[in-house]
Amino acid sequence: MTVINIEKNGNVGLIKIDYPPVNAAGFKVRSGLMQAVSELDQDRDIAAIALYAAGRTFVAGADIREFGKPSQPPVLPDVINTIENLEKPVIACIHGTALGGGLEIALGCHYRVIIESGKVGLPEVTLGILPGAGGTQRTPRLIGIEAALEMIVYGSPVSSKRALELGLVDKVSREQDPRQVALEFAKEIIASGAKVRRTCDIADKLVKNPENISAISQYRDKLVGSSKHLFSPHKCVEAIEACLELPFEQGLKKERALFLECMESPQRQGLIHAFFAQRKAAKIPESSIAHPRDIENVCVIGGGTMGAGITASLLFGGLTVTMIERDQDCADRGKANVNRILKGAVERGKLDQANYAEILAHRFSTAADYHPASSADLAIEAVFENLELKQKVFAALDKEMPPGAIMATNTSYLDINQIAAATDRPADVIGLHFFSPAHIMKLLEIVVPDTTSPDVTATAFALAKRLGKVAVRAGICDGFIGNRIMAAYRKAADYMVEDGASPYQVDTVLREFGFAMGPYQTADLAGLDIGWANRKRLAPSRPPEERYVNIADQICELGWLGRKTGRGYYRYEEDPKGLPDPEIEQLISDARSAKGIHARRFDNDEIVSRYLAAMINEASKVVEEGIALRPLDVDITLLFGYGFPRWRGGPMKFADMQGVDSILKQIEQYRLEDGYFWKPADLLIELSAHQSSFEQLNNSD
Ligand code: 3HC
Ligand code: NAI
Repeated sequence: MTVINIEKNGNVGLIKIDYPPVNAAGFKVRSGLMQAVSELDQDRDIAAIALYAAGRTFVAGADIREFGKPSQPPVLPDVINTIENLEKPVIACIHGTALGGGLEIALGCHYRVIIESGKVGLPEVTLGILPGAGGTQRTPRLIGIEAALEMIVYGSPVSSKRALELGLVDKVSREQDPRQVALEFAKEIIASGAKVRRTCDIADKLVKNPENISAISQYRDKLVGSSKHLFSPHKCVEAIEACLELPFEQGLKKERALFLECMESPQRQGLIHAFFAQRKAAKIPESSIAHPRDIENVCVIGGGTMGAGITASLLFGGLTVTMIERDQDCADRGKANVNRILKGAVERGKLDQANYAEILAHRFSTAADYHPASSADLAIEAVFENLELKQKVFAALDKEMPPGAIMATNTSYLDINQIAAATDRPADVIGLHFFSPAHIMKLLEIVVPDTTSPDVTATAFALAKRLGKVAVRAGICDGFIGNRIMAAYRKAADYMVEDGASPYQVDTVLREFGFAMGPYQTADLAGLDIGWANRKRLAPSRPPEERYVNIADQICELGWLGRKTGRGYYRYEEDPKGLPDPEIEQLISDARSAKGIHARRFDNDEIVSRYLAAMINEASKVVEEGIALRPLDVDITLLFGYGFPRWRGGPMKFADMQGVDSILKQIEQYRLEDGYFWKPADLLIELSAHQSSFEQLNNSD
């Protein structure tokens, strides 16, 4: 297959980029483009050159797989500069998405047309870098400093309509065929006598006036609040500022230097790991052997916190949902819960009034019996976390649902094998573990019992995609991937608190590390009764050698269940964000005294080390037992469901970057005080012995 194809059509030289899946500007594209433009430039019969791409998209950016490897010339900035400096008009026809280096190629062309459904963007910041092929210098020249800051610092793509309004493109086409659109636009340009129009020559938007200076400083200020941990957004602002200070050539040099700084940063490694891990998590053994079943009609059993969120998520995904509750009052309450979410979406502009009306009129209903299940393709159960109750619900569903229908549970911890056993068709039973709030949280753990048929698993992954969720395949154990690991790092935090740290110190330090919230804020938000019920459930099987901290139980016994009761680890009456509570500090101090523990000081680094070591150790056990398919599945679970900072790539990536060996050494040290909790995972020992890494395991399939 030829990556770059030349076609001469009259006096138009067409260049087709054909490098599946997304026409990334890898070595073959760059070198091929360089050759093609120079060939057409020298061809006297050619009056204009038109670039377009084959397949589903224009160039989706630089080839990210090449990052971190020695660069092979020609580098993208040189290719783009060459295009811009040609003496014949060059046009770009964008379809699908022109992202990053893809948009930068288009910006180096002299004219741009976009197919209506297309989008453009500079998402480099989401990968820990900045546009490094002229994007930070050409974009402000075309659309001004403030609009360029918005696009580059946040990285969100814009629609074809917005691209036209901004002045990023010259024309939006309703035609669908990129070749045809490219050809026609090139002919138009020739016919109009339009000349070469270089973006680098535009200067009128780059005046060093108060508006532009203030836009730069406003973005700097915004970033201090919202992205203080992140490296590359600050570098984006610096690169854009260079447009006001330096001529184009020098601006490009500055951009290159900042780009290379970002490329060297550990955040770039973390974010790119997250990018590929997210895509790889969708690759499961079942995809190659099974076909997803069709899902249109869904029953959700239970209309509480999770049932309502799941229902909303399904409705947003275009499915038809009947919510089944235990009686009419509960059904009405469930309906009100869903309606609240839908109305919120309308208020936030996420759902338009017509769609809202359509959902209520045609796609959402409630019931207080199981009859609607007889025509459903899928049921998702979200009743109270109680095995017998769930088994009853599944037995009822089994009676009612048609052959081929799928029965799923949203249980957080319970053994889904036992739930499946309550039916006569365990092959159709699976876990769909949504996270709260289910219509917002991206993670969906797809928990696969031993008996589940592969096409049921494949269906669950297809459904996740339709709902815009990030799905991770998990096996059966208490808490599956995420909650099991959380139980371990939460214990490590509780041990530190009982030994002398304050919950407020722990939360602050972990936020500083980059977590969205600390463990005690998270517990208050979820409701302390959730953990309490779980500890009670596990009490009979708790081994005597396990250290048990009863501080959380004591808080629950006071009726302080977190935000919803106004008190938990924090007090919420005066400040909805929560204030530290001296009574909690006293309760903790008394709990220490009752056990004869003398509080010791924890420095911040030790808190992070213990918390992360507990997380990585349990995660290693989860991988070694096959509960997670690969280390990257753990990373995705923690990134999308538990607030782990994306720029650190996830706990396993973090362990690799620290060195597995050094994590193991820490664990061995902590093991001296508690041999039960800090028993190192065999996998960690093995990786350390072979000087291997989790990344090698990710790539071993
Ligand atoms: N480089 C290499 N591979 C890429 C890629 C890229 N820029 N973009 C996507 N891919 C790969 C994916 O890894 C995936 O591979 P797989 O099939 O082996 O898993 C395949 O292409 C398809 O990707 P998606 O599953 O994401 O396909 P979608 O259709 O859902 O989405 C997309 C397409 C919107 C283009 C999405 O892939 C995307 O957002 N890609 C990244 C875009 C990006 O960040 N571009 C900037 C790159 S950095 C840059 O350009 C630097 C420059 O300034 C110098
Ligand atoms: P909830 O208490 O808010 O809602 C449960 C709902 O189930 C109630 O509305 C109740 O009326 C209904 N219900 C009870 N018995 C029923 C029956 N026989 N038939 C129909 N409906 C019945 O509980 P929540 O928080 O929504 O949890 C539901 C499930 O989701 C649990 O298994 C929980 O472990 C799990 N989960 C909860 C998360 C959370 O953060 N709340 C997160 C992920 C999973």
